[in-house]
Amino acid sequence: MSSMKEDIKEILFSEEELRKKIKEIGTQISKDYEGKELMLVGILKGSVPFMADLLKEVTIPCTMDFMAVSSYANSTKSSGVVRILKDLDFEIEGKHVLIVEDIIDSGTTLSYLIEYLKGRGAESIEIACLLSKPERRKVEIDVKYTGYVVPDYFLVGYGLDYAEKYRNLPYVGILKEEVYK
Ligand code: IMP
Ligand code: MG
Repeated sequence: MSSMKEDIKEILFSEEELRKKIKEIGTQISKDYEGKELMLVGILKGSVPFMADLLKEVTIPCTMDFMAVSSYANSTKSSGVVRILKDLDFEIEGKHVLIVEDIIDSGTTLSYLIEYLKGRGAESIEIACLLSKPERRKVEIDVKYTGYVVPDYFLVGYGLDYAEKYRNLPYVGILKEEVYK
């Protein structure tokens, strides 16, 4: 069994860098949503590390919920098909919903999700993503908070997976091409 580290070409964002960036985002969210009913909605499973760290940097009262969707079937390319595997546990009527996502690639997943959630009476629905690959965008999408804009590499770690692996790496790195080619 090879070590995960050997499959990483380069570390893009260290644990330390991620922590600082997420603190900045959390501080900004706390200012922007002051006095509002904020609900953070994490998209399982990639957002889990980001959600856990971001949550602790939000200093105003908020609630948390999760959704699970599938768009990638063990591949590095999006199929464009989005399925809801787990819906919200709570109503979002009157709430300010902030969707927390690991990475936006084509934009298919989140644009579908936002359409899906519209009509449930939320005061607002916005997005916080740790990483964004704008070069790959197929659908226009408004992102309120972006951690880092990244080039078109396949990334793993800090929640990001390849075939469900590497999510537990504490940093974000570029996966060596020989691993998936
Ligand atoms: P989109 O619908 O194309 O924007 O895809 C977003 C989803 O694709 C993310 O939530 C990730 O699960 C996955 N994804 C996109 N790029 C990467 C990557 O570089 N590494 C791992 N997962 C990725
Ligand atoms: Mg994923």
